[in-house]
Amino acid sequence: MNQSEREAAKRRAGESAADVVEDGTVVGLGSGSTAAHAIRALGREVDAGLDVEGVPTSFQAREIAIDEGIPLTTLDEADVDVAIDGADQFADADLVKGGGGAHAREKIVDAAADRLLVVADPTKEVDVLDHPVPLEVLPDARATVADAVRRLGGQPELRRADRKSGPVVSDNGNLVLDCDFGAMPDPSGLAADLSALPGVVEHGLFVGFADEVHVGTETDVTVFEP
Ligand code: 5RP
Repeated sequence: MNQSEREAAKRRAGESAADVVEDGTVVGLGSGSTAAHAIRALGREVDAGLDVEGVPTSFQAREIAIDEGIPLTTLDEADVDVAIDGADQFADADLVKGGGGAHAREKIVDAAADRLLVVADPTKEVDVLDHPVPLEVLPDARATVADAVRRLGGQPELRRADRKSGPVVSDNGNLVLDCDFGAMPDPSGLAADLSALPGVVEHGLFVGFADEVHVGTETDVTVFEP
């Protein structure tokens, strides 16, 4: 699958999930390029009269939603009916997320939603998760968390910015360690170990989160419930 085919697959997945959103609901708005297609498609539906409110999972999602004219609300004011979010990798209902460093807010919103619709292109699907797991860490905990990750068998790497010297800083003002554990046959066990580390704000393992997965293909979309 080349880059333009992949982009078209992401668009189909995003539009397919946006189609499922019902009138009068509150929608969690995910982050990343595939979720962005869903937010834009929702924006078009709002233009056509759909009555929804969005809860953004990141600065990026909020910006696109404002641009698209989607009314916004917060978790303080509303219950989320359905969230639409991307993934860096998925195996059945288990996900690795955080490619955009937004996984802390994504996890809060996705977990709060009655249903999570995952949108992805086919390159994200695997039998066993093996994508590096992003950890959002408090800046003071960077070295201690990195040591603990090594003890758990992972290779931590500080995520560095492209157009700024130094590290990526998350929407919450924290650092991101991308931690390569190789194949992860027991994502629940690893998720519990990572959650227990002092200074880890959130990790990118979303175990059992997906209620429905929309996978765009070169010509179509496959939808399944894991
Ligand atoms: C951001 C995420 C994204 O959903 C994930 O990185 C997938 O992004 P894309 O749809 O651009 O491939 O978790 O934190």
